[in-house]
Amino acid sequence: MVLRSGPVTSTGFVAGCALAGALILAGCGSSPEPGKPAAAPAAGGAPASAAAAPRANVDGARLAAADTDTQNWLTHGRTYAEQRFSPLKSIDESNVAQLGLAWYYDLGTTRGVEATPLVVDGVMYTTSAWSVVYALDAKTGRELWVYDPQVPKRWGQYACCDVVNRGVAVWGGKVFVGTLDGRLDAIDAATGKLVWEKLTVDQSFPYTITGAPRVVNGKVVIGNGGAEYGVRGYATAYDAATGEQIWRFYMVPGDPAKGFETKELEMAAKTWHGEWWKGGGGGTPWDTFVYDPELNLLYIGTGNGAPWAREIRSPGGGDNLFLSSIVAVNADTGAYVWHYQETPAEGWDYTATQPLMLATLELGGRERRVIMHAPKNGFFYVLDRATGELLSAEKFVPVNWASHVDLKTGRPVEIPSSMYHDKSVIVLPGPLGGHSWNPMAYSPLTGLVYIPAHSSGYPYSTTPQFQRFEGRPNLGMNPSGGPALNASDPLTKTNMAALIAWDPRAAKEAWRITYPSAGSGGVLATAGNLLVEGLIDGRFVVYRATDGKLLWETQAQTGVVAGPITYSVGGEQYIAVSAGWGGINSLVGIRPQGGAPLAQGRVLAFKLGGTATLPPVPQPPPLDPPPPLTASAQTVARGAFVFGQHCQICHGVGAISGGSTPDLRQMSSATHADFDSILLGGSRADRGMVSFSDVVTPEDAAAVHAYLIKRARDDWKGPELAPSP
Ligand code: HEC
Repeated sequence: MVLRSGPVTSTGFVAGCALAGALILAGCGSSPEPGKPAAAPAAGGAPASAAAAPRANVDGARLAAADTDTQNWLTHGRTYAEQRFSPLKSIDESNVAQLGLAWYYDLGTTRGVEATPLVVDGVMYTTSAWSVVYALDAKTGRELWVYDPQVPKRWGQYACCDVVNRGVAVWGGKVFVGTLDGRLDAIDAATGKLVWEKLTVDQSFPYTITGAPRVVNGKVVIGNGGAEYGVRGYATAYDAATGEQIWRFYMVPGDPAKGFETKELEMAAKTWHGEWWKGGGGGTPWDTFVYDPELNLLYIGTGNGAPWAREIRSPGGGDNLFLSSIVAVNADTGAYVWHYQETPAEGWDYTATQPLMLATLELGGRERRVIMHAPKNGFFYVLDRATGELLSAEKFVPVNWASHVDLKTGRPVEIPSSMYHDKSVIVLPGPLGGHSWNPMAYSPLTGLVYIPAHSSGYPYSTTPQFQRFEGRPNLGMNPSGGPALNASDPLTKTNMAALIAWDPRAAKEAWRITYPSAGSGGVLATAGNLLVEGLIDGRFVVYRATDGKLLWETQAQTGVVAGPITYSVGGEQYIAVSAGWGGINSLVGIRPQGGAPLAQGRVLAFKLGGTATLPPVPQPPPLDPPPPLTASAQTVARGAFVFGQHCQICHGVGAISGGSTPDLRQMSSATHADFDSILLGGSRADRGMVSFSDVVTPEDAAAVHAYLIKRARDDWKGPELAPSP
């Protein structure tokens, strides 16, 4: 499958990037934007706290010892084990009430901000929407440089879950970022200039990269996403110094006629049927990679199948390896070592890409080196990480697709009445899963894993006349699948969200803090007995890690979805987070803060006695009254169908925006007048809204417009509207 619009050449990018880099560098060292805390621009660049040491001076020995390097946050989950636990304890239960804002940095975006910042020797490296990279003084928030990889905005159409980026990796004086359009860029940590760039995907396919790279033994590992749109997932390792490709591991087999890359893929192909490769197959590893230096194994969490409906994807059945699995490979060669498939024949968008975590636990009277995982399918897994042996798997949220996981066979036992086909069935957890990419944390002091969890049922049904649209989401779902067969089962009405404290030794919940809606952020645990999280209601809070008692809170002015970090500079401990509502929950229309206006994305850093304050959030301009509705009820109904098919993935269910894309009930009179040129003419393609003329006819465009006018009038809260004719 090849996209309609031609690929963008990588050489074009490099030239554009170099130019952009030069322009940005010219602006580097300019005075801070208004509203930022004053930080005098230091003559000659770097501030005192960051000037002395070479930048991003990180190597394998330093990464392997990251746990004792308590001042820094050197890799995505702080250490290779990615427990997101910090031994820092200057901020603790007794003094956390004195926590205040030390500084903030405006990211200038209303799209989602999902990055975990890294901190190396007083410098913070982080990313924002559209894969833009920032280096900031970690003590003051002063900008050191900005690197914008100039992602073409039209690539936003392939990002199922917003144009987000979850952060960088550092090694040997370089900062590495995967860009939304599939490049891996190595940036000089001192200057912010591009050193090398590799195109890691075939841009004639709708791949996206949102995950943070990891560096292992001098190799940068990067995955990719895009399963829904029709791609074949893989992970690639590049030499950190030169960018030379070292290995690539495909997560699903390709076209058998072309031969298999490895014998494991030949084995995997026996678990597929039909012509799966035509839709890519999926399995995209878009977020998690953890590394065990003792075993020299890299563990990869793989994605869902494409399309979701298993009978369309692989008619005739089969487990469809390595979808929804943990795959262990040799970190130097990428050679397969073992795999464990969490959801055989995955059919519900159950990715296994949620953050993996390594720990040593005492289980059954002996020490076990384990992997812990809370994937979308709703079971919390503990596996032996040398062999992949399953040690426990218990539900952490309401689940109705499987009754339990059989510990002898390692396989889930599916519940037949929850299997959807042409008839609609509500399955829990739905496509948002029991837990998504929002990082969980483990405190070795409390022995608990803290999971940002949620579950809500979704009516799945297979579309009888599946038709693949190139470069568009191809789920194989039927938007009008009829009433759900199991709608009377009370479990299907469960809608929950909570921070769950899970005891991985006992394989059960210890306690929970309940939230009103899905969408709260990742978690950090510290030796000060603190548990830190940003919430869907716009608060940034600290709980007591032992029992969840609320110790401190502040307003972030926007929903916080990313994972917080802690570090220390100049003997002072900081707690920092990327705040910025967005991502999948926003796109489907979940609004934080009860729908109040949201601040732009920011990095927020707190310390004891911090006194900075956030400026008030600007109020949106008054709305134009919606135009009269002239279309028939039948046309409006057709418009609702087309909207559900092509628009709601970005503009929200029922045209209620979650805040990161425009709310189409609130279009201005000028936008109403431009509607066709935006939708069919592509006049906003350079801002992420491409033309839909290949899939939406002018007649359907008028129907969608009528539906949106109806929605605007129904929800209008201003002065009374003139009646429609
Ligand atoms: C892949 C994501 C995506 C999809 C799918 C999508 N849009 Fe958009 N749309 C956007 C973004 C991003 C913007 C904001 C562009 C800008 O900044 O002007 C936008 C803006 C718009 C606007 C201008 C709104 C305003 O108030 O300025 C209209 C109208 C619109 N979209 C209609 C549609 C319709 C109708 C569909 C379905 C046929 C659709 N969009 C599908 C991402 C999307």
